[in-house]
Amino acid sequence: MRIAVGSDHAGFEPPPPLYKPSVIAHLERLGHEVIDCGTDGPDSVDYPDYAEKVCQALLTGQADRGVLICGTGIGVGIAANRHKGIRAAPCTMPEAARLSREHNDANVLCLGRRLLTLEECLEILDVWLSTSFSEGERHIRRIKKLG
Ligand code: RB5
Repeated sequence: MRIAVGSDHAGFEPPPPLYKPSVIAHLERLGHEVIDCGTDGPDSVDYPDYAEKVCQALLTGQADRGVLICGTGIGVGIAANRHKGIRAAPCTMPEAARLSREHNDANVLCLGRRLLTLEECLEILDVWLSTSFSEGERHIRRIKKLG
């Protein structure tokens, strides 16, 4: 898959492991093509700017899915969900990641550096990437209502 990855400075928050580089390395190990949407270091930036870059990568067809990281996963989630066609899911457990794919066909996963260990993030990411949308009639109907 082509996966756009973006974070604010929380993706580079010490102590190591630094979450954004670790998530990118994990995705590449799995054979995915990563589109790195920044940021690139620990200097303070604004999460809406990186949510915007990831969403644009999806909406222009450059990426199939997106992964966003901020302190909580909430800020990037709020920002991403302002875009028509983006269904961003802040997830703090694998079950939420699974359901966000099966029921909501979530196309962006939002992870919180300050809420999750890196190991938890990668487990959530793996579940999210390996779960398909159920294609259930009721779920399609509900997603259509999102516009
Ligand atoms: C940045 O300090 C922090 O506010 C941001 O990463 C995010 O958690 C916002 O929702």
